[in-house]
Amino acid sequence: MQKGGKIIGTKLKAAHVKAGPNATVKRQRRRDKKRCDSKKVAAVPATEAKEVKVPKAMKVQPKAKAGKPEEPKLSKKELKMAAGFERRHRALYDVGQKVLLVGEGNFSFARALCANLCEGDKKGGENVYATCHDSEADLDKKYSDAAALRKELEDEFNATTLTSVDARRIHNIKEFRGHFQRIIWNFPHMGGNDADVEQSIRDHKALLIDFFKDAEKCLSEDEDAAIHVALKEGEPCKSWKIVQSFRAACPDMDLKEVRPFGFGAWPGYEFRRTAGFDSRHSKKDRAELAKGAKIYVFVRKAAMPGKKRKGD
Ligand SMILES: C[S@@+](CC[C@H](N)C(=O)[O-])C[C@H]1O[C@@H](n2cnc3c(N)ncnc32)[C@H](O)[C@@H]1O
Repeated sequence: MQKGGKIIGTKLKAAHVKAGPNATVKRQRRRDKKRCDSKKVAAVPATEAKEVKVPKAMKVQPKAKAGKPEEPKLSKKELKMAAGFERRHRALYDVGQKVLLVGEGNFSFARALCANLCEGDKKGGENVYATCHDSEADLDKKYSDAAALRKELEDEFNATTLTSVDARRIHNIKEFRGHFQRIIWNFPHMGGNDADVEQSIRDHKALLIDFFKDAEKCLSEDEDAAIHVALKEGEPCKSWKIVQSFRAACPDMDLKEVRPFGFGAWPGYEFRRTAGFDSRHSKKDRAELAKGAKIYVFVRKAAMPGKKRKGD
């Protein structure tokens, strides 16, 4: 972990980021203020290990040529379903939960999550640790908005942000051990091109296995403690065989369910590539996400009726 993340007692404090918030961030902040004051969304009961099919029209729409995203043409039924998916995604997180985000890009998901966790006097980020793999210098080179978003997370939402955190070694941070109810990695990827397909598949499987092993050690004892990983549909992610990889890494845990990634639930969140932001790639990224994305929810077998632990 880079020196930005100095350990102070049981709380980790990130380096003070000097850049001021840009106009987009300010606009988003105003919108979130309103959201914070509005009613919280009721939790939706989880469906056991069920995968939900996302109708084509409800997936993220590619950008229109004129610049603005095309409005998806949804029927009433689809609109209702889309709202349900967003609600179910938000319902995975609750005020007061200790949350660790690893592999953040520009920290826009962390920001959207904290905005959603605001309630009354609670600033939303008090129990949220948002981390990225990049060093602070690399992060700022790769994503021009990251500094402002981190500053907002720290100052406005009271969250902690850390750079240079390797998802494969999170349990090396003493304060992280046995601490979190939610450990989230959205769209893990090592970067680089996947020219050697077989090697890349092996590398990503190994990355996930190392992450899962370490993440398990950082989960709290709470019954609903869970590891969440979001993946795009299709290749190359399909070949990573996430569920098999998880079972190999954590025999005492298992897949509880797979939910659609409700992009609309997280205003301001923008997917970022490991290599950094490049507007030339955004269209392709949006098109890939348009094929659908899912969140895999893994919990301890003890929290899943009917599942036996190894050796039982
Ligand atoms: C495709 S990007 C997704 C970024 C972000 N989560 C999002 O949704 O926009 C993959 C992220 O995984 C991160 N990553 C790769 N290897 C990592 C590791 N060993 N530990 C933590 N993060 C890692 C990259 O730095 C990058 O930020």
